[in-house]
Amino acid sequence: MMDQAENLRRIVNNRINYDITNSNSSRVITITSGKGGVGKTNVAVNLAVQFQKVGKKVIIIDADFGLANIEVLLGIVPKFNLSDVINGRKNITDIIIKGPQNIKFISGGSGVQDLIRLNKNQLNYFIKNMSLLDEIADIILIDTGAGLTEAVLSFSKAAEEIVLVTTPEPTSITDAYALIKTLYIQDKNAVPNIKLLVNKVDNEKEGLEISNKLKQVSKKFLNIEIEEVGYIPYDRNLIKSVKLQDPVSISFPKSESSKAFKKIANKILNANHKDKTKLQFSAFIKRLMDVFSN
Ligand SMILES: Nc1ncnc2c1ncn2[C@@H]1O[C@H](COP(=O)(O)OP(=O)(O)OP(=O)(O)O)[C@@H](O)[C@H]1O
Ligand SMILES: [Mg+2]
Repeated sequence: MMDQAENLRRIVNNRINYDITNSNSSRVITITSGKGGVGKTNVAVNLAVQFQKVGKKVIIIDADFGLANIEVLLGIVPKFNLSDVINGRKNITDIIIKGPQNIKFISGGSGVQDLIRLNKNQLNYFIKNMSLLDEIADIILIDTGAGLTEAVLSFSKAAEEIVLVTTPEPTSITDAYALIKTLYIQDKNAVPNIKLLVNKVDNEKEGLEISNKLKQVSKKFLNIEIEEVGYIPYDRNLIKSVKLQDPVSISFPKSESSKAFKKIANKILNANHKDKTKLQFSAFIKRLMDVFSN
């Protein structure tokens, strides 16, 4: 019997060849961290709001399977999730949920791990569906779960760029470095572009010191260049916004954290894509499957 992952790779390859004529492709950015609870979901949602404000079409995928982060933050209970697409019950467009300010998101549901168990036709259906997102979104943000789990690593490896979130806490910094190092050890030639974001800082100086430290050790010991993408201050308005289940960029647009999110969103949009043309979402899925099958 043909290995499922191999099967999937073949299908996706066909799909990618077919897609070359399609000029639409989304920029896929995974929001990740070593340690949990550092602010990834808030980063994902607020970057989405900021991108949206400057006319970008954004979809967030809640890849924190089980815990439904985005849903809690936006106060929405979705009826369907990615497993309904994986199982062929729904099209991807049916499970896109509209949140405040037209932020769109997709709930991950029980997990991409289900993919490995599908047969050829089911996989084909899934990949075709996923590549529809390339036509709908300019940017796809993937919010990952807490901790250095296999799933978090997989999503980080498959993306062309990651926003790595840390806070000034020493454990958060060492866990961020552990994530970089794990990516390096697993495949030093396939480390994604890493954009470091320091959240909950007291001031800019603190943020700068932390990113410099992480930049230096990554360069020195792993020869990896990471970029700093900015800092977000510790902000009580953000905590209030979580309680209101409304992103701070909407509920308190003039707050310090909202201003910081705006600046970071601009920086990401203006970042040079040295590497390449944008990766198609279907190609992202292919890489994800490669990662899962290894
Ligand atoms: N800039 C900030 N200022 C103050 N508090 C913050 C800030 N960012 C995050 N928080 C607090 O940290 C909590 C956790 O944030 P969030 O849920 O975004 O983290 P996470 O990394 O997604 O967590 P998990 O790993 O569990 O998914 C928030 O509910 C909020 O109370
Ligand atoms: Mg989260």
